[in-house]
Amino acid sequence: MRTQVAIIGAGPSGLLLGQLLYKAGIDNIIIEQRSADYVLGRIRAGVLEQVTVDLLKQAGADKRMNEEGLPHDGIELLFKGKRHRIDLNGLTGGKRVMVYGQTEVTRDLMEVRAQEGLTTVYEASHVQPVDFESDKPKVRYEKDGQVHEIECDFIAGCDGFHGICRASAPQDKIKTFEKVYPFGWLGLLSDTPPVSHELIYANTERGFALCSQRSATRSRYYLQVPLTDKVEDWSDEAFWEELKKRLDPEARANLVTGPSLEKSIAPLRSFVTEPMRFGRMFLAGDAAHIVPPTGAKGLNLAASDVGYLSQAFAQYYKEQSEAGIDRYSEQCLRRVWKAERFSWWMTSMLHNFPGEGEFNTKVQEAELDYIVHSEAGSTSLAENYVGLPLV
Ligand code: APR
Ligand code: PHB
Repeated sequence: MRTQVAIIGAGPSGLLLGQLLYKAGIDNIIIEQRSADYVLGRIRAGVLEQVTVDLLKQAGADKRMNEEGLPHDGIELLFKGKRHRIDLNGLTGGKRVMVYGQTEVTRDLMEVRAQEGLTTVYEASHVQPVDFESDKPKVRYEKDGQVHEIECDFIAGCDGFHGICRASAPQDKIKTFEKVYPFGWLGLLSDTPPVSHELIYANTERGFALCSQRSATRSRYYLQVPLTDKVEDWSDEAFWEELKKRLDPEARANLVTGPSLEKSIAPLRSFVTEPMRFGRMFLAGDAAHIVPPTGAKGLNLAASDVGYLSQAFAQYYKEQSEAGIDRYSEQCLRRVWKAERFSWWMTSMLHNFPGEGEFNTKVQEAELDYIVHSEAGSTSLAENYVGLPLV
């Protein structure tokens, strides 16, 4: 088999890249180690920046998002028992975010890919990028007991944090930066109406809480928990009781509880790989970087990476110019580090840090007080939350 771009991984990065390349007339094959259902079973974030919304439109995968997604013009910060609204729209000259689940984004991208009849190899094992430092790269994999090889011009490593592409990069040419936080997020999804029409980010003495949503009838809530906690330790009742304790009286009174559809614990991590290109292999999305979910940037960074990468490949094929692919890593990393900073900052401001003591709590409260009462402070939060422009 031969293709122009072999994409490893059918998460949001790989699927969006595949669709953007197809629209630009560039042939691609996706190789994924799991089944489509497994990929769709992962519940993840749900806030899309305008940049991501625009890329989904360009990919032709925006129909259901336009019908079912919820545009949000603000978020609320809850601290010292009171909620304060950040007017994202007013502070950014009319920008907003779209609340639409990553699972739905993935499903929509899978559907358009299937409609166009593009090749995705699911349940491939022993996937391996080969010879990517030469001009004849290949992807080797096994399927149904047979070894296959795809010859290509480029490999896109869209295979997530645990993928094979970053692991295959030459160790003397790669540098990684990491920060692990001493807590996790316990998430619960339920078919209950959201507690409030906008997201609530809460800093409380019992720890962080987030009230998010997927639709008018489906809610997603999170609680900061110690890393030692297990999902089995948390009954639905215990979750709701703890969430109530972390909300203000009005939200507590409005909270509708119900059985969980899904419950899981995710650790919080900041991680960046430099560079994001190794010869003819390009990393994108979680394969190259992880952000803690507090700033809702993971999926959006994945989208901007593949936006840049598709442009770079289009320039290569249409104009026979390598300028885009040569600039890719640096261009992505500038945006990645800004999102890393924002996610780290939101995480630092909103969580309880064990052992940091009351001084830290007081500084957090002062910072939140400053952010909500200073136009400069709230504008800085707002412009990062809605997403920095692509440069
Ligand atoms: N071979 C083939 N596929 C692989 C391999 C491998 N060796 N290793 C991993 N994969 C697949 C995974 O099964 C997964 O479907 O690559 C895909 C990577 O998808 P994601 O982890 O969702 O990463 P990405 O597409 O970059 O999406 C980033 O996901 O984790 C969130 O916050 C993150 O929202 C962001 C988004
Ligand atoms: C979510 O809805 O899952 C979500 C929303 C905002 C965040 C993180 C997660 O910051």
